[in-house]
Amino acid sequence: MIKSIWLFLLLSTLLLIACNSKNEVLSELPLVESKGLKYISPFPFGASLGINLLKTKVVYRNVVTKEFNSITAENAMKFGALHPSENTYFWTEADYLVSFAKNLGIRVHGHTLIWHNSLPLWITNFQGDAIAWENLFKAHIQTVVTHFKGSVVSWDVVNEAFNDDGTLRNTIWQQHLGNDYVARAFQYAHEADPDALLFYNEYGHEYSSAKRTAVNNMVSDFKTRGIPIHGLGLQMHTNHIQSDANLITAINTAALTGLKIHISELDISLNKDNNQSLTLTDALAVLQAAKYKVIVKAFAALPATQRYGITTWNVGDADSWIRGTYNRPDWPLPFDDNYNPKPAYQGILDGLK
Ligand code: XIL
Repeated sequence: MIKSIWLFLLLSTLLLIACNSKNEVLSELPLVESKGLKYISPFPFGASLGINLLKTKVVYRNVVTKEFNSITAENAMKFGALHPSENTYFWTEADYLVSFAKNLGIRVHGHTLIWHNSLPLWITNFQGDAIAWENLFKAHIQTVVTHFKGSVVSWDVVNEAFNDDGTLRNTIWQQHLGNDYVARAFQYAHEADPDALLFYNEYGHEYSSAKRTAVNNMVSDFKTRGIPIHGLGLQMHTNHIQSDANLITAINTAALTGLKIHISELDISLNKDNNQSLTLTDALAVLQAAKYKVIVKAFAALPATQRYGITTWNVGDADSWIRGTYNRPDWPLPFDDNYNPKPAYQGILDGLK
């Protein structure tokens, strides 16, 4: 009997110690209090948004309203979404986003005029000569830019035109329009809205020096030829293993062009190796926060005129494209599944200090 009482006491003490140490770890990660990134950041801070989420989820809408002063459509302004058949444009969803932004008095960045993905079937099946291709390319760019003129202040004109080795990507556009299609896309967009800021958007600057070089060479070439370009978008779909040095080099190398820099699709994956049984631990959340801080700090150090802003790719972890696209558990964003700020959010605040 006495023995079992001792055993009971011993076990309860061990349990208490275990609970306390857990509390200690958790207390290192307090809930983040903030008045909203848009009030704290000296440059625009934003997110890409899903229109359905915006329409149907009050908590989502509230977080967006509180935090951001720049928004991008995650999908609603892509070719397939806006221009589903040759003679049909579908504006409803994108217009909803624009009027949401207008009501709040915040900025809308357009994504994306020309890309090799999210294309409608009528484009992938299109049969026509070089002139027919040029006409539809120009018409799409100019119809979209004209529709949003005055509301969408900047555009990702071309998205992901390079391979990681720095060569031009072999896309449907490149095949039918030739290597100089990127420059012509910028010219057509500029004709339609001379006030719009035009960006070239790309991923991989943080791991491919060949890509960084290719992008900067393209900018030099555009400047020499008088092709209008105002900014570079760095998607920054990165992960917590990426080195600080690479992240900083990506930002600083792009800034050497003198153009405006937009971290345009930021998210930091915690599960790049696709571990199906991974769970989110405090340790991982803290590593992620540190990477957010590094990126934000490097960006904040750029000259003010070059800081176009930082945009995360959607808002909460449950909305992230990473889970669906790579079919794995992951937590890449500054807000959790319930839209509570994560340590990553604190990392952003620390980077802004
Ligand atoms: C992604 C969206 O997040 C997904 O919802 C969609 O199914 C596919 O496109 N680079 C880009 C973005 O430039 O447009 C992509 O967005 C993510 C990668």
